[in-house]
Amino acid sequence: MAEIKRVFLIILDSLGIGAAPDYADFGDCRDNDTLRRISMDPAFRCETVRRLGMGHIAGVTWMGNYGSPQSIVYRLVEKSRGKDTTSGHWELAGLISEHPMPTYPDGFPSEIIEAFKKATGRGVLCNKPASGTQIIQELGQKHIETGDLIVYTSADSVFQIAAHEDIVPVEQLYEYCRMARKILVGEHGVGRVIARPFIGENGNFTRTANRRDFSLEPPKPTMLDAIKDAGMDVVGVGKISDIFAGRGITESHPTHSNDEGMAVTAELAQRDFHGLCFVNLVDFDSSYGHRNDVSGYAKAFAEFDAWLATFLPKLKEDDALIITADHGCDPGDESTDHTREYVPFLLHGKKIIPNIRTPRFGLNRPMADASAIVCDLLGVEFAGDGSLVPVKYRHPPVRYEALIECAITAMQGAYAPYSHYKVGAALLEEEEFQDDIVSHITCGCNMENASYGATICAERSAFARAISSDSKRKFKAIAIVGGKDGVITDFAPPCGICRQVMQEFCDPETFRVILYNGKEIKTHTLAELLPLGFGGDKL
Ligand code: THU
Repeated sequence: MAEIKRVFLIILDSLGIGAAPDYADFGDCRDNDTLRRISMDPAFRCETVRRLGMGHIAGVTWMGNYGSPQSIVYRLVEKSRGKDTTSGHWELAGLISEHPMPTYPDGFPSEIIEAFKKATGRGVLCNKPASGTQIIQELGQKHIETGDLIVYTSADSVFQIAAHEDIVPVEQLYEYCRMARKILVGEHGVGRVIARPFIGENGNFTRTANRRDFSLEPPKPTMLDAIKDAGMDVVGVGKISDIFAGRGITESHPTHSNDEGMAVTAELAQRDFHGLCFVNLVDFDSSYGHRNDVSGYAKAFAEFDAWLATFLPKLKEDDALIITADHGCDPGDESTDHTREYVPFLLHGKKIIPNIRTPRFGLNRPMADASAIVCDLLGVEFAGDGSLVPVKYRHPPVRYEALIECAITAMQGAYAPYSHYKVGAALLEEEEFQDDIVSHITCGCNMENASYGATICAERSAFARAISSDSKRKFKAIAIVGGKDGVITDFAPPCGICRQVMQEFCDPETFRVILYNGKEIKTHTLAELLPLGFGGDKL
């Protein structure tokens, strides 16, 4: 059964947490560690992720951990034979790539070029790795004279086609890209075919903003397909839709920066949807990792951490948040390339019980298990190349209906000879005990006085009873009912003084006030009923 309605899956692009065991196969070093590296910079901040439990992950204990984690934490290991964005995201979505995406340091083989020429009816210039800006200066004029297309690649798995917009209209160029995409499959399944249109005169050619990427479709179904097929939403933020070639996406919000990505995600949290919100924050990688900018990376991480503190309160009861990454890109090593690293995994939600009691928490899990976890949260049957790790949920052991029953019974005892308005309250305490949750209910009723001001409300009489017994004071909720002569016809919300007493003993963000009007139940957090409450932390 689905426990969670919305999963926010946020990829901090390139936030590795230490060299993976197979780092040497990828030409990397044992001391590659993206997060550790940026933590040395004065701009680095990590309060929010530390509170969620990042410092409980193996290899990240240098971060320190205050108390128990507020998340399920793991260290993920990538199995795919690539350390690129696509293989990382695909694996998180349940698809392991057995082979790295092909690269062409000597240009594309003739069978590919011949097939491309045949399909387009045009010749091909270049066919080798090249810098995009240089190659158009070098071959632009020849391209104009002959109509041949400039085909080139880079160190990445890309097939790029440059053409002058006056010679090949952009729509035509996009069509050529689609043709190339059909040819470049199987062992020649390059990550992206890219249209690179340019304009201008010989000696002064410039590229236009009409660049377009045509990504490789995932060769097998991913969790995105499974969630979409189950009739739910799959909302991509940033380059997610591009990475999956649009497959399994129901709504896409392309963004240009981390700031924009975070803003869009915060907006989506205010919206009602059912399914997955899959976010990629790319600046970490593109603006800082690849540019070996340690300070920039540290500052961007601090900004994310501060944003996260504002995002967490937006999460609702049946939401889950996952923070992870797709690969590393240590900005402090010599290369500007990605690094083969472990990545962090944090799963947080009001209903989700952190893995505090597992003696060896925060240890390794295959990256593909992320997809199994996401699908399990949403009640979708799919594991892909991952396997399921059952998530433990926090269920209110005492259902709200039962708590209301207690309040109704307590109301019968009300002493209200002056107002005849009888009120009953049932206060719920919950305590985690040996992997279980033990609950306790204390009831109260109103107790009036001939000197009216000496009257005690039902809620406060319940609190007084609980506090004066051997209560553990882990208050989770209070149900309140009331009505003239004990007949419930409307909600009986707590008075201001009772709200202030709740503020004293309860967590305003999580403590719930449960109201009942004889027909329906309404619940509020204390923070909603007493905004900007004054508490002991001020003194
Ligand atoms: N009352 C409560 O018990 N709780 C509240 O929060 C509001 C008011 C009682 C006090 C009094 O006996 C009666 O309702 C009418 O004010």
